[in-house]
Amino acid sequence: MIILLLGSGGREHALAWKMQQSLKCSKLFVAPGNTGTSQIATNVSLNILDFVAIKKFVISEKVEMVIVGPEDPLVHGIYDYFKNDAQLNSIPLIGPSLVGAQLEGSKEFAKEFLVKHNIPTAAYDSFTVETVEKGCVFLESLQPPFVLKADGLAAGKGVLIIQDLEEAKTELRNMLVHAKFGTASSKVVIEEFLDGIELSCFVLTDGKNYKILPTAKDYKRIGEGDTGFNTGGMGAISPVPFADAILLEKIETRIVKPTIEGLQKDGIEYKGFVFIGLINVKEEPIVIEYNVRMGDPETEVVMPRIKSDLVELFQAVAHQKLDEVILEIDERSASTIMVVSGGYPQEYEKGFEISGLENIQDSIAFHAGTKLENGKVVTNGGRVIAVTSYGSDFKEAIKKSYQNIEKLHFDKMYYRKDIGFDLF
Ligand code: AMP
Ligand code: GLY
Repeated sequence: MIILLLGSGGREHALAWKMQQSLKCSKLFVAPGNTGTSQIATNVSLNILDFVAIKKFVISEKVEMVIVGPEDPLVHGIYDYFKNDAQLNSIPLIGPSLVGAQLEGSKEFAKEFLVKHNIPTAAYDSFTVETVEKGCVFLESLQPPFVLKADGLAAGKGVLIIQDLEEAKTELRNMLVHAKFGTASSKVVIEEFLDGIELSCFVLTDGKNYKILPTAKDYKRIGEGDTGFNTGGMGAISPVPFADAILLEKIETRIVKPTIEGLQKDGIEYKGFVFIGLINVKEEPIVIEYNVRMGDPETEVVMPRIKSDLVELFQAVAHQKLDEVILEIDERSASTIMVVSGGYPQEYEKGFEISGLENIQDSIAFHAGTKLENGKVVTNGGRVIAVTSYGSDFKEAIKKSYQNIEKLHFDKMYYRKDIGFDLF
C-alpha cells in the first residue's frame, strides 16, 4: 500500500516509524517531513493546506491512503475535500470530517457537544463582542482563577488562566474587542477552573467502533517544576502511573463511549484520532479539551507502545471494521524528552549543527525540527529532537532518555531535567 502522511514534526516521525514496520506499507511519503522522516520514508515538498497540490500528488503517485498528522488541514476540511472529489473519494483519509474537526477548531462547539451528550466538563458560558459586559458580570460570579479560552485555533496560546478579577475583565475585552488572538478570539469561552492533575486519553475511531490507545501525560511548561511559558510539550510518559483500572473504567464509560456515540447520534463522520485532554479532580475525570489528532510529544511515547500493525488499524478505520482487529499494547513504559533550541518558545535561532545522533543507543531519536544542510543535520525549529526510551517503569525509561541526551550536542541546546518529577 502506498501511503502519504501529512506533517513535519516529532509526531509525524513517530507515526512514520510505526507505519514503516508494517508489511502492508510498500511506500511511504511524508509531506513535508523532516530529516528523521527522510531517513525512513520519502519526503515530499507539499504545502499541507494546498489541497489541489495534494490531490495532484495523490493521483500521480497512486497513493492509496492519506494520514493527517496536524489539525490544520482537518479544520480546513481536507476530509470533505477528498470525499467530495470523484477522483479522491475512494482513497481513505484518516482524520475527521470538517464538522468533526470543530471539536478542536471551536471551543464553543466542543463545549456544546460535551454538555449535549452529558460528558463531564467544566461549567462555562461563551461571549462575543456584543456580550462582553455580560462576560464581565459572569466573571464576577466565578471564583478565581479565571479561565478564558479563545474559541478558535490559536497555536496553543489561546487559553489564559488569570488570578485577578480586574485583569481577567481586561483580557476578556482584549480578546473580544481588540482581537488579541485575531478572529480566533471573536468568541471567548469562560470556564470554571478545575484543580487536579492532567492526563491525556487517545482514541482511534472509525465513527462507530473505537480502540483506546495508551494514556500519556505531557509536560507543557518550558521551565523545571512546571514553570514559565507554555510550549507544545517538553516531554511525555506513557502509561500514566496514576491512571489505574478504576480511573480508566470511568474514562471509558463516562467519556470515551458517550463521545463516540455522540458523534454517531449527531451524524458526524469521524475516522481518525480523538485526543481527549482530561483533568483528574479527586479521582473524577473531567474533559478540558478535545483535539482531533494525536498529541506531540505524546505520539512519541504512544506509538512505541502499540504492538499491533498501525497500517492494519488504519485500514480497519477506513472500512469501519475496527471491531474486527485486536489492539496489542507493550507492557513496558515509554518516556520521551524533548530537546529544544535555547529561547524557545519565544525567539530562538535555527541552523545549528546537531552532533552525537549516531551515538544514541537503546533509545529512539524522533526528529521534530531538523533539516539536512550540506549533508549535516541542523536545527530547524524550536522543538528539535524527542528522545524516546522504554523501561520497566517510567523512571527507568526517563533515565535512559537522559543518558542518551547527554550524547547530543548543538549550540544553545536545552531540555527539562525533571520530566516525571511530579510522579516520583
Ligand atoms: P487547552 O488549550 O484547552 O488544552 O488549555 C491549555 C491548558 O490550560 C490545559 O492544558 C490546562 O493546563 C489548562 N486548562 C484549560 N482549561 C482548564 C480548566 N477549566 N481548569 C484548569 N486548567 C485548565
Ligand atoms: N502536547 C499537546 C498537544 O499536542 O496538543
